[in-house]
Parts: sequence; C-alpha cells; structure tokens
Amino acid sequence: MIKKLCVIGAGTMGAGIAQVAIEKGIETTLRDVDDQFVQRGLKTIGTFIGKKLEKGKLNQAEHDAILGRLKGSTDALEAAAGAEMVIEAVFENMALKQKIFAELDGICPKETVLASNTSTLSISRIASVTRNPERVVGTHFFSPVPVMRLVEVIKGDKTAPSVVEAALEFCKEIGKTAILAKDVPGFIVNRFLCLLYNEAADQIYKGYATAQDIDNGLKLGSNHPMGPVEIMDMAGVDVCNNALKALYEMTGEERYKPSPLFEQMIKENRLGRKTGRGFYEYK
Ligand SMILES: NC(=O)c1ccc[n+]([C@@H]2O[C@H](COP(=O)([O-])OP(=O)(O)OC[C@H]3O[C@@H](n4cnc5c(N)ncnc54)[C@H](O)[C@@H]3O)[C@@H](O)[C@H]2O)c1
Repeated sequence: MIKKLCVIGAGTMGAGIAQVAIEKGIETTLRDVDDQFVQRGLKTIGTFIGKKLEKGKLNQAEHDAILGRLKGSTDALEAAAGAEMVIEAVFENMALKQKIFAELDGICPKETVLASNTSTLSISRIASVTRNPERVVGTHFFSPVPVMRLVEVIKGDKTAPSVVEAALEFCKEIGKTAILAKDVPGFIVNRFLCLLYNEAADQIYKGYATAQDIDNGLKLGSNHPMGPVEIMDMAGVDVCNNALKALYEMTGEERYKPSPLFEQMIKENRLGRKTGRGFYEYK
C-alpha cells in the first residue's frame, strides 16, 4: 500500500492524479517548478473537491480531511521526502523527463517506485539515465483522471517484477483498472485512438463522410460514448496531430501518418473547442 505519494508536474494530469490519490486517503505532495503552477494545481483540485461538498457527495469533515492530505511544493527534495512512489507528469519531452528521473534517482531511497505518466515516450529510455532502472515503471493515466477508469502500466526492459506489482497495486488502491502494456510507441490504447482520429480526418478530407455522420456512425453503430471527431475537438486538433506525428516517427508505419487535413486546420486556427472552431463550430 502506498501511503505517501509525490507527483511531479501540477498541470492537467498531475493535478488529476494527486486528486484521486488524496480522495483515496494517500498523503500527496504536488510539485512544480514555479509556485504559481503549484497554486494553480492546488486550486483546480480544491474546486473539484469543493463541488463534491456543495453537491452533498462529501460532508465538511470528509472534504477537509481530503484536502488536508494535499501539499504543494517547488522543492524536489522536500516533495519526494518519505514518498513510497513518485509519479512524473511534466511536459512530454524526453530530455526533461530524463533530467527529472536522474534527479529523483539521486534523492529517493532505492525502494521508492519512480513512475512516468508519459503517453508516447519509451519507459526504458527514460529509465536508462538512472542507476536503478529496475524501479522505473510507466503509469499512463487518461484524461480527465478523476473520471477515466484506466491506467496502462508499462514495464521497461529493466523494470523489476516487484515494481510492476507495486504499480498494479497502487492502481487498485486508487480505484483504477490497470492493464499491462509493452513499452512500444503508443502502448495499447493510443495506438487504437490515433488510428480512429486519422481515419475520421481522412474520410472528411476526401469528402467521403461528414464529421456528424462519422460521430453518429460510431456512437450508434458501435456504441462509442463519444464520436472520434467530437473527441478530437475536445482534446485539440493540434494535440491529436502531434500524437499521430510522434507515433508515425517512432513506428514508421504509414497508417499513423497524419492526414493533410490536420495541418490545414492548424493553419486556419481550427484547433477545436479551445479556439471556438475545429471540425465543429462552438458558440
Ligand atoms: N493531457 C492529456 O490528455 C494526457 C493524457 C495522458 C498522458 N499525458 C501525459 O502526461 C504528461 C503531462 O501532461 P499534461 O497534459 O498534464 O501537461 P501540462 O502542460 O498540463 O502540465 C505539465 C506541468 O509540468 C510542469 N513542469 C515542467 N517542467 C517541470 C519540472 N522540471 N519539474 C516539475 N514540474 C515541471 C509544468 O510547469 C506544468 O505545470 C505528459 O507526459 C503527457 O504526455 C497527458
């Protein structure tokens, strides 16, 4: 059982991971490089937990106890002190992640599990800069973390079986379902999702189908809760393009080569909900 967790990176994913951990009784320190980012992460979590209080899903004592388990810090040493597990959720950049893992490897006792929330990068490569690569593992959460039930647990080439076990146990502890994934580009789920996004964009680009028909097709004909086009607008057309580009570069497989429609839409600032226009228009 993990009793104390440290999360590095207080952005979308880091804040989400910290939230589910404190809700499940785990003392958590959220670390970022600048106090304004730490405060932003703490505020996001406070707002979500506050809403549960307003809706009567938590009483005041439960609300206070949950938030009482959360701390913020800009200091890596202070944040990682006493943590049995550290989860890194900083920008998707190999050099940055390797720098953080080298630092964590130096300051954390050997028993501390070091996990990365990377969505595309190789766990083995991240671990290669550490002196103890056997304690490095991937824990790939999905966004929004409090809602999505899955975590992909990724074993690097040197990850110890006991560390994989510890990661699987941790997922259970925080109420998530884990699946074991190989350390291949895109792991399991993103390899599928990227294909769906690319196929949808390709059909629209070639004039074979409209966004609406594709979404209706997959929702009504295949029971998808959301259509792939709606999801792309929510996640960001640029974000989906980057994910596809990364998978294409890493695998060399043509099926991941982004449809030309992505670049066209990016040039027109049609990035999805965040710019008011993507595949659909938003008021
Ligand atoms: N957003 C998603 O849908 C999603 C889903 C699954 C996995 N991921 C992965 O999770 C990771 C984080 O993504 P995100 O969307 O939360 O990013 P984000 O941009 O919202 O947050 C990243 C945070 O890391 C901080 N940071 C940068 N360098 C740091 C350092 N040296 N030390 C501490 N903090 C540092 C930044 O200040 C920022 O607050 C990435 O690897 C991403 O690929 C993202």
